[in-house]
Amino acid sequence: MNKIPIEFGTEHIALASVPEAQMYRDEVNCQEPMRSMLEANPEIYFVPPQRGHDWGNWEYKSGSYYDTTIGAKHPDWRDIPLPQETKDIKQLRYDMVTWGYCKIEDALSVDQVEIIRERVLSQAEGERLAGIAQKTPSGQNINCCVNKGRCFELLIEQHPDIVQGGPLVEQLVTEALGSGWICTSLIAAISLKGGVPQALHQDQGFYPESTSPMSVNVLTAISSIDEKNGGTLLIPGSHRIMSDAARERKPVGKLPPAINLNAKAGTMVITDGRLLHGTGINHTDTPRIVMLNGMQKPWMRQQENWMLSVRSEVLARASNKLLHRMGYQATTGTQTNEGHGFGARGLLGEAAGAILDFRLAADRGDYHRVGELCPTSVDEELNAPFTLREVVSKARKGGRSAPVGITGIRINSGEEG
Ligand SMILES: [Fe+2]
Repeated sequence: MNKIPIEFGTEHIALASVPEAQMYRDEVNCQEPMRSMLEANPEIYFVPPQRGHDWGNWEYKSGSYYDTTIGAKHPDWRDIPLPQETKDIKQLRYDMVTWGYCKIEDALSVDQVEIIRERVLSQAEGERLAGIAQKTPSGQNINCCVNKGRCFELLIEQHPDIVQGGPLVEQLVTEALGSGWICTSLIAAISLKGGVPQALHQDQGFYPESTSPMSVNVLTAISSIDEKNGGTLLIPGSHRIMSDAARERKPVGKLPPAINLNAKAGTMVITDGRLLHGTGINHTDTPRIVMLNGMQKPWMRQQENWMLSVRSEVLARASNKLLHRMGYQATTGTQTNEGHGFGARGLLGEAAGAILDFRLAADRGDYHRVGELCPTSVDEELNAPFTLREVVSKARKGGRSAPVGITGIRINSGEEG
């Protein structure tokens, strides 16, 4: 038996890997800008994870970040033109870039809001009765909504049947993230009286120096929200403060105070993934419902594991758009399945990157994966009904020729490669 070279031994590696010797040490371990932000603003860090009725004073007396109020009532913000609800795309763009959020007025009609409100409250009660309610420090969340009502499928699609302002919202998201963006999750966040405020955080907790967002959150107010019922806490403009500090490698100083987001039911609020925000406190007896529908660059890992979690009935009727948003269209660099997807561009309905059939085969219990093969494999092994073979063949029959891959080899286009 060959002796393993000493350089491969764990002891040898450990001795040669003291922190000072490691490459990219500063970059990998840098916790900026959060570290300096928390140093300069310690009050936004710690929120004891307990329920209680002693949280907050909506009349804005204590000075804690969560005991605040809406911009129009806040002494530090009331004279500043923070985003207002509007349908004016130019204003929405300005608000997004300047303040890190914008409010699309009446993105959902009164009737559309009612459809979602009813479904959310009903589902929440059902999950409580089933003993599977997902309690959060703020109340209750309904996760993986796509499985829990047709209205949620349409919400993810920004379909005008449930989001009358869908085309406008999509335009803004596309401008922020570039084309090809996908959905990370759809959650109904219900804040209940007695809930705990959430520490301020960035959803985009990586690549903090980015000059444009890598993710945005599309919040839909199903309840009208304000300082009394847990309007989202946020620091206007903090997306820029945080990314500028990270890019310039300077510490974050004292931040402006947080406000409660206010929005009437039916408003969609797009927030920049770099914006500091957190769940507010509901001081009322009425549940506060906000739909959280994060969107992100297509190469990022998604919050919801849509590959596994989506019901087959939902997948069977899903539009190409919904499938794409859930990540069911592979690209060369993401989500390829046994090699199917190399050369694909992640387009809607693109057969060369469609991976749905693998999942449906698994659901039927007849997903044949390619395993070990060799020159002496028998015919039965070589001619096995590999699902890959079926999917590739279907893609070819679709008449689409796959684009040329990075190696110059045309993949999934008809020739074996
Ligand atoms: Fe968040």
